[in-house]
Formats: sequence, structure tokens, C-alpha cells
Amino acid sequence: MSTAQKEYKRVTVKTLVDMKNQGEKISMLTAYDYTMAKIVDGAGIDVVLVGDSASNVMAGHETTLPITLDQMIYHASSVVRAIHRALVVVDLPFGSYQSDPKEALRSAIRIMKESGAHSVKLEGGKEIKESIKRILNAGIPVMGHLGLTPQSIYKFGTYTVRAKEDEEAKRLIADAKMLERIGCFAIVLEKIPAKLAKQVAESVSIPIIGIGAGPDVDGQVLVLHDMLGMTHEFHPRFLRRYLNLYDDMTSAISQYVDDVKTRDFPNQSEKY
Ligand code: KIV
Repeated sequence: MSTAQKEYKRVTVKTLVDMKNQGEKISMLTAYDYTMAKIVDGAGIDVVLVGDSASNVMAGHETTLPITLDQMIYHASSVVRAIHRALVVVDLPFGSYQSDPKEALRSAIRIMKESGAHSVKLEGGKEIKESIKRILNAGIPVMGHLGLTPQSIYKFGTYTVRAKEDEEAKRLIADAKMLERIGCFAIVLEKIPAKLAKQVAESVSIPIIGIGAGPDVDGQVLVLHDMLGMTHEFHPRFLRRYLNLYDDMTSAISQYVDDVKTRDFPNQSEKY
């Protein structure tokens, strides 16, 4: 655990608000399976997001749209089994909440019941307000997600920076205030100008977690496989790589192939 963080036995939605009030930055990473989640939790992360980016990272789809609710529940329950400290947030996948509030609540309940996760995340603002309210009324904590919302990729056509124009920026601020007002415990802001993200973080009392939203927000989130350098073809400006696992794993695996071919592996001490 790093020296820059306080000791919390278990991170809850209330802990995150306390962190914002005390000026302690919130750390968040994705995880989709037991082994990785165990490492991430053990390293002291505050929030683990079972993101629908699993659709890209784990399943190799081009977008987040194909992943299903059943698949998200499978990933989430694997992650939950590994977690002792972090708060677990699970994305409601595309198609599981957009049609009406009752369907949204049914999907959120399935995630909570079948995976044991602690909260859910939904992409969007006023267009999904009633669905979020319905989920909150059932006692399920909700994290919002504004700015670049990958589930709407076909509406925008690109993954470029959002809310650069005044009108979209104003809408985003209004959506953030609405999400706070109805009871969301935090909001992810993805790929928006740093100045706007700062303004949002200063105008709401709930934590703002940024990805490509600059330093002046309450916390940061990255996709685990990107920050570990496993997805080497993806290099947006906001991504800091802490390892280069793509190259390290490739050379370890080619070494293994070589060792098997040359009969170097297994040796005398590696047999029974
Ligand atoms: O699915 C995901 O990984 C996300 C993050 C990019 C915030 O929503």
C-alpha cells in the first residue's frame, strides 16, 4: 500500500465522499477476472471497475456493445471473489437499461444478486434519469458516466474528446448536477477538456473520477490491461504505461517455446 493513502479496512461509497472532502485522491482500475482482481486489490486500489471494456479487452470485440448481462455477471462474480478491500462497481452493459426503468432495475438487481458486487455504473445523463432513480430507490448505489460514453459510439462516430463546444459542456455540467441531486455516489468523466472536468469537480459534492479528464478531479481510472502495457496498439495521450507486459510476455513465451523445442525444459530437477 502506498504512503499517500489512509488505511481503510473496506472502501464504501461513503469512504469515497470522505476522500473527496479530505482531498485524498481516489484510485480506480478495471479488472475482469479473479487473478488480476486479487493483485489489484492487494496493491491497495480503492475502486475496482468491472467495466464493459471487457468486451474489447477480454473478448476482442471492436466496441463495448456486444457484451451481455450474463457475461458481465460472470466477470463480476470472478472479481468479487478476489476482493477484500476495494469497492466493486459493475457496468450495466448496452441494451440492459436503455429501454425502460423497470428493465434497468431488473438488470441492476441481477448484477447485485448474482455477482455480489457493491454498485453499478450506467452511461448517460438526463435521458436515463428515471432508470437511475429506479435503481437508487432499490438501495443500489449508482456511479454515473458522462463525456465520452463508449456505448454511444455509433451516435458520435469517433472516440475523440467530448464537450469541447460550449453547448455540450453546459449540458454535461447540468447532467453532473442532476446525477448528484438524484443520489449517484460518484461520476466517471471520460475524455473531456481538463478545464471543464475541474469545473465539474468543483461544482458537485460527489467524487469525480477522470479518464482523460486531467488532474483536477477527485480520482483517476484506467483500464488495467492498458496501464500494464498488454494492449500495445492503444496509445491515447491520457494513458500512462507502468509496464510493457506485451513485450515481456512475448519474450517469456518465446523463451518457453524455445526451451521445449530444444529439450531444455523440463530439466532433471523439474521432473518426478
Ligand atoms: O468500461 C470501462 O472500462 C470504463 C472505463 C473506461 C471508465 O467504463
